[in-house]
Amino acid sequence: MNTIYLDNAATSFPKPAGVSDSMKRYMDCIGATINRSVYGSAQDAGLVTLQLRQRLGRLFSFSGPPTHVILTPGATAGLNMILAGFLRPGDHCIVSSMEHNAVMRPLLRMEGVEVDRIPCDSEGLVQVDALPGLFRKNTRLVILAHGSNVCGTVQDAQAIGDICARHGIPFALDAAQTAGHFPIDFQRFGLSAMAVPGHKGLLGPSGIGALVLREDFAGLLTPLLAGGTGSASDSEYLPPYLPDRFESGTPNVPGIYGFEAAVRFVEEQGVDALRAHEMELCSRFLDGLADLPGLRLCGTRDLRRRVGVISVDFLHLDNAEAAFRLETEFGILTRCGLHCAPSAHKTLGSFPQGTVRFSLGFHNSKEDVDAALAALRALSGV
Ligand SMILES: Cc1ncc(COP(=O)(O)O)c(C=O)c1O
Repeated sequence: MNTIYLDNAATSFPKPAGVSDSMKRYMDCIGATINRSVYGSAQDAGLVTLQLRQRLGRLFSFSGPPTHVILTPGATAGLNMILAGFLRPGDHCIVSSMEHNAVMRPLLRMEGVEVDRIPCDSEGLVQVDALPGLFRKNTRLVILAHGSNVCGTVQDAQAIGDICARHGIPFALDAAQTAGHFPIDFQRFGLSAMAVPGHKGLLGPSGIGALVLREDFAGLLTPLLAGGTGSASDSEYLPPYLPDRFESGTPNVPGIYGFEAAVRFVEEQGVDALRAHEMELCSRFLDGLADLPGLRLCGTRDLRRRVGVISVDFLHLDNAEAAFRLETEFGILTRCGLHCAPSAHKTLGSFPQGTVRFSLGFHNSKEDVDAALAALRALSGV
C-alpha cells in the first residue's frame, strides 16, 4: 500500500531535492567547521552559513544585520533562549491560550515569573482587544504562537505588535507553524524576537533552526550557553558581538548546508506561491469535510486566517483508533492526540480526547486530499 504523508506540521516530508544533496556535499567534500580555520573548505562553510543567515533575513523582511539571525538547534531552543535569557523573577509575561509546550514549559518552570493568557475564541483566534487589559507594571514580554499547531489558526501578529509597541512591551513570536507557510514581516509585526525551526515549513533537516533578534532586544538577552566561539580567543569571557555571543560550541554544519538549500528553495518558489498551493488543498479538504457527519472540525474555515493544519474530532470513534485505521487501512499518515498543546485543546473544546491532525505540505496534491476524504468517509460510515 502506498502511503500519503499528511503530518507536515510535525515535520515536513519529503524535502526539496537539493537538501540532501547539499548535506551530502558537506559530509563528503567539505567537512570543515565555521569560524575556526581559514582554508578553502572552511571558507565554503563560512560562506554557506552567511548565505543562510541572509536568506532567512530576506524571507522574514528583517532589516537588521545577518549577524542577528542566530542559528539554533530548533524552535524550542530559540524559545528557551528568549524566555530564560530575558525574563527574571518578578516579571510578568503574556501568552495566548493556544500555546505549544515549547513556550509553556520553559515559562512555567521559571520561579517567580507571573503568566497571563490572552483569551482566544472557540476557533483559536486571539481576542486582540483583551490584550491591553492584561498589561501590568511588571509586564516584560508578550510571546505567542503565530500559527496553531493544533488547528492552523493564524493570529493577527501586526495588530498584537501594534498594541505591544504602544505599551513599550517587547513582542516575540513562535513562528514554528508559519515560517515558510505564511508571509512574515518582522518589522511590520513589530517583533523583538522570533524563533523558527528548520524542519517544518522551511523544508530543511531537523536539529537546526533560527532565532531572529532585533538589535536592542539582543542587548538585553543573556546567552544560555557559554563556550568557545572561535573568536576573541584571547578572552575567557563570551564576546559581546553577535552571532558569536549566542552560538557557543561547534554548530550543526551538515544541518546548515541542508537548511541553506531548503531556504533557497523556499525563496525561489516564494512563500506566496507555496501558500497558494497549500490553501487550494486546504479549501478542498475543508469543503469535503463539511459533507461528513460524525466529525467536528476544530479551528477556523477562514482561509485568510489559517495554514494547512486541519484537526478533526471523531464524535463516534476514538481518535487514536481513527488515526490507526487511517494508516493501516488507507496508508494515510496523520498525528493524533494533544500535539503538545493542552491549553489549545481546552480552548477548542477538544480536551482531553485530542484530535486527528492532517497537515499539508508543498508536496501534497489534490489526489492526496481526495484520498484522505474518501478514507474519512469510509470511517464515518457514509
Ligand atoms: C507551535 C510550535 N511551537 C514550537 C514547536 C517546537 O518546534 P521544534 O520541536 O522543532 O523545536 C512546535 C513543534 O511542533 C510547534 O508546533
